[in-house]
Amino acid sequence: MSAPAVRIVEVGPRDGLQNEAAPVPVEARIRLIEDLADAGLKSIEAGAFVSPKWVPQMASTAEVLAGLKRRDGVTYSVLTPNMIGLDAAKAAGVTEVAVFGAASETFSQRNINCSIAESIERFEPVARAALAAGIRVRGYVSCVLGCPYEGDVPVAQVVKAARALSDMGCYEISLGDTIGVGTPRAARVMAAAVADAIGIERVAVHFHDTFGQALANILACLDDGVACVDSAVAGLGGCPYAKGASGNVATEDLVYMLNGLGVSTGVDLDRLARAGWAITDLLGKAPSSKVSLAIRAKTSAGTPS
Ligand code: HMG
Ligand code: MG
Repeated sequence: MSAPAVRIVEVGPRDGLQNEAAPVPVEARIRLIEDLADAGLKSIEAGAFVSPKWVPQMASTAEVLAGLKRRDGVTYSVLTPNMIGLDAAKAAGVTEVAVFGAASETFSQRNINCSIAESIERFEPVARAALAAGIRVRGYVSCVLGCPYEGDVPVAQVVKAARALSDMGCYEISLGDTIGVGTPRAARVMAAAVADAIGIERVAVHFHDTFGQALANILACLDDGVACVDSAVAGLGGCPYAKGASGNVATEDLVYMLNGLGVSTGVDLDRLARAGWAITDLLGKAPSSKVSLAIRAKTSAGTPS
């Protein structure tokens, strides 16, 4: 194990809630974000300034940010696909935004209504204006290990997209296995190829867990020196434009694994599990996190976790 500390980017309030059938009330979104900060998460994706016609679940992101008690030392980031999104993010006083592209042409069209090349042209002014305003910019590449429309995605396409986002000033590139089809060797080869192009310290990984491989994929990438991992409390998540894709790797499962490896995260697992129960109880579903379920079973049996 070469990574002594791992930064977790908690994407539940965005990737998690964007995929719910019905929009979650603003107060519940605020409570979730505050609970996650209370559990020790320092990087929280709080919402998305995208078209409400495309993703109605992320409407009211401005109200969520306005209602939040923001804590020192916690970054609340948002997705911004274009200048309209960036202007909204600026008005909301965020300090970090993310642009999101893809390694697959069809997914790019379905998700953001433009080709990969057009998306890069669209993101460049967004990144420039954000950086000029002192706002950090993260980049996502989706479909890095497979596309719901095109199937296999060549690693060279992932590297090309990551390099383009890096060249426009994104400080970190999050590599998204949007439909959760990857396996460890493929994940490792893909992340290593991107690391060769932009530097391992700028690589983050974002695994959905559709085929149950997310933790194994993360472990393989950590072994190669990746030190930033995206995850969602309770394993919430999915993408409205990637049918059948299940939730992100659960933050509880990730933290439990990292604790066992002696890798520091700064997250209080019991508080995190409680944050997950609050939102999943509200949504009327069980967490998909095995760790969360195990802690809850112990807690309700009266055994300290
Ligand atoms: P478009 O229809 O081509 O955009 O959508 P447009 O510029 O023609 O505008 C159409 C309408 O949308 C206009 O309103 C604009 O004002 C409005 P109208 O005149 O019709 O009333 N509009 C906006 N409103 C609010 N905020 C905005 C905005 N932009 C335009 N920012 C667009 C293009 C990119 C806007 C659209 O396709 C979109 O919003 N897509 C977002 C899709 C999305 O959020 N997907 C999920 C997130 S990505 C993901 O989950 C993957 C990830 O987790 C990593 C992984 O797992 O791989 C990140
Ligand atoms: Mg995702």
